[in-house]
Amino acid sequence: MTETEFGYECAPWELRWRGLDVDALQRTESAFALSNGHIGMRGTLEEGEPCGLPGTYLNGFYEQHELPYAEGGYGYPEEGQTVVNVTDGKILRLLVEDEPLDMRYGVATAHDRVLDFRSGTLRRVTEWSSPTGRRVRVTTERLVSFTQRAVAAIRYDVEPLDEDLQLVVQSDLLANEPITSDTRDPRVAAALDAPLVAQFCQAMEHHAVLVHETRASGLRVAAAMDHTIEVDNGLRTHIQAEGDLARLTAAVDVRKGGRLRITKFLAYGWSAQRSVPALRAQVEAALAGGRQTTWEGLIAEQREFLDHFWATSDIEIDGDPELQQAVRFALFHLLQAGARGETRAIAGKGLTGPGYDGHAFWDTETFVLPVLTYTMPDAARDALRWRHSTLDKARARAEQLGLRGAAFPWRSINGAECSAYWPAGTAAFHVSADIADAVLRYVNATGDTDFERACGTELLVETARLWASLGHFDHHGHFRIDGVTGPDEYSAVADNNVYTNLMARRNLSAAAEACERHADIAAQFEVDTAELDSWRAAADAMALPYDQELGVHPQSEGFLQHDEWDFAGTAEEFYPLLLNYPYFDLYRKQVVKQADLVLALHLCGDSFSPEEKARDFAYYEARTVRDSSLSAGTQAVIAAEVGHVQLAYDYLAEAALTDLHDVHNNVRNGLHMASLAGAWQGAVAGFGGLRDYGGQLSFAPRLPEELGRLTFRLTFRGTRFQVSIAPAEATYQVLEGPALDLIHHGERFTVTTEPSTLPVPTPAAGPPPSQPPGRGPARRDASKVRQFMKGT
Ligand code: BGC
Repeated sequence: MTETEFGYECAPWELRWRGLDVDALQRTESAFALSNGHIGMRGTLEEGEPCGLPGTYLNGFYEQHELPYAEGGYGYPEEGQTVVNVTDGKILRLLVEDEPLDMRYGVATAHDRVLDFRSGTLRRVTEWSSPTGRRVRVTTERLVSFTQRAVAAIRYDVEPLDEDLQLVVQSDLLANEPITSDTRDPRVAAALDAPLVAQFCQAMEHHAVLVHETRASGLRVAAAMDHTIEVDNGLRTHIQAEGDLARLTAAVDVRKGGRLRITKFLAYGWSAQRSVPALRAQVEAALAGGRQTTWEGLIAEQREFLDHFWATSDIEIDGDPELQQAVRFALFHLLQAGARGETRAIAGKGLTGPGYDGHAFWDTETFVLPVLTYTMPDAARDALRWRHSTLDKARARAEQLGLRGAAFPWRSINGAECSAYWPAGTAAFHVSADIADAVLRYVNATGDTDFERACGTELLVETARLWASLGHFDHHGHFRIDGVTGPDEYSAVADNNVYTNLMARRNLSAAAEACERHADIAAQFEVDTAELDSWRAAADAMALPYDQELGVHPQSEGFLQHDEWDFAGTAEEFYPLLLNYPYFDLYRKQVVKQADLVLALHLCGDSFSPEEKARDFAYYEARTVRDSSLSAGTQAVIAAEVGHVQLAYDYLAEAALTDLHDVHNNVRNGLHMASLAGAWQGAVAGFGGLRDYGGQLSFAPRLPEELGRLTFRLTFRGTRFQVSIAPAEATYQVLEGPALDLIHHGERFTVTTEPSTLPVPTPAAGPPPSQPPGRGPARRDASKVRQFMKGT
């Protein structure tokens, strides 16, 4: 294990940080966050301080506030939602004789934290000498349980190192922790200042419960803690609870060579409807379950859950140890974001921080769900069930906008639109097609007819209705979708965005097909033949602008006539452009924040010829500045497809390392789930060439020179299989389940439990594309990483 220049040590199955760096706390707290998709806990130190940003989140739990507008308008959403830091159960403060353990004082002779991707725990060892020279070793391990979704637990050991010591530990449940909010809006800050109103507290023996309610959204949260304490003798404990604080205090004399061990069990629950007694009962029951399992039991369950996850999802990379670690880090956090969300959203930051107010975006369906669909399909299904549960709100929004069907929100926690900026919110209608596409992908990959009947078809129908009412046939008979914003947020309210139109086309056809498969459900939603025909007609006549002269697709109509951006005159410190230039200027120039047409080349690649892809990619490379972390993964995928394998590698590394290297300088607010998913996309869809058009899986493997081998595992229609790519050949093998028909570089074959090894052709690539000056990805040179590691 060796330290990289970014502070973390490089190791294949863990993320380790040695030493205390107070300035780096905020970003390590995001990277060390533990979550199961229901509870999220940032990786703060047990003693509460020093602290970057405390954070305990419950998926779906938010406070609402008025949305600020200098000037309002019809259909503007009026209420915003913001994720709330709920009752903090992570805190265990320690007094050594009469001195509090605070790492800013005294001397930490050793301090080491490690997030272990296989045990699913965060461990810490600190050897600390108090200002008066009393030395202790504190060893902790923390988990948020994947198997018991309401439960978290902490094991906390203290050992005197040189002499007998009196130790006092205070274990807290603390609500309304003071936090410094990043928001510039005083109304949002006010909503988040002590958002929880105490409703109930009780403490007995080693056990306490607090119940609170938010002021405005009226959601109720309960948190409970219980402890086991192991010590030789002389233990005195005291427990108290009042309003925002419950505290167990344990005081004991511990001999040199002895140990105080506290195991803290935590349970969380929230509800919009359940009463205080009901919620209290719920968390107490969860706590009893956790205690009955025991710490060792929870650890064993966690390991077993993760063993299964890695057996179905791992990606192995030979030749670039830092990338290997980053890709596993990405997979681990994607699992944490989605595993036990159970009909709640997967937010843009998962449950790792308060960034983006805790909102979910199209990031989920377009970037995160493809990963989950092929690795943990149940988690993908549950996230789509969340969308389904919000259909009423999406229907109401469509109606408010004068449209039919369902208009899903650009950003939200509870399903209602929270975007206060309509050009990149309301107008970004593609989110509805992205949801439809995720439904289609999930159903194709699993054959889950129950889901298709219960949720999928309705989602497809209502989104198809949206497109049918949003677009129109022009006098040439083309179906146009005008005045919408595509994925690239440096263009807005444009006509016939190619990505949107292609995705809408697929949505319309898929809805018609699903209705034919499930005529009874179609009847239930009053879809008649005329409506089916109208969807098909719109899909068949979908406008897809193309510039014959340039031989490229405009990302939206008119884009190619726009003035070019003065890249040469834009100094590095003016990026991201949105913070330094007015939107009106960005919107009228050929400058691209993030993959848009290039995303169409990936997700709707069956609508483009290989030559078109190569030309389009080169054209947009020269104009894409990657001011969004959503872009690099997609650019990796298409760079690989058009044969620029080293460039694909550069982009893959950027996507995978976005958070570990803090590329966007905002990881303190939480990890970027879409970018972490982009790492998977770059590896599996980029170097693996995975595509799934119309339910047929195909691969086109290729590797950059630096990598000796790339191996990944996927699950499709109940078959778990592995693809292992070497420079000149790829080997496919079923690990579990029936044989599967696949395509390798255009050739059909059947993969079975016997390995099939097929040749990898050398990719033919055109001249290397160029990026705007200074905006190309860093050239990935794995030999430097290896060299660096040898040297340290
Ligand atoms: C991107 C959006 C994305 C959002 C949340 C923005 O910067 O432009 O595409 O949905 O961040 O990740």
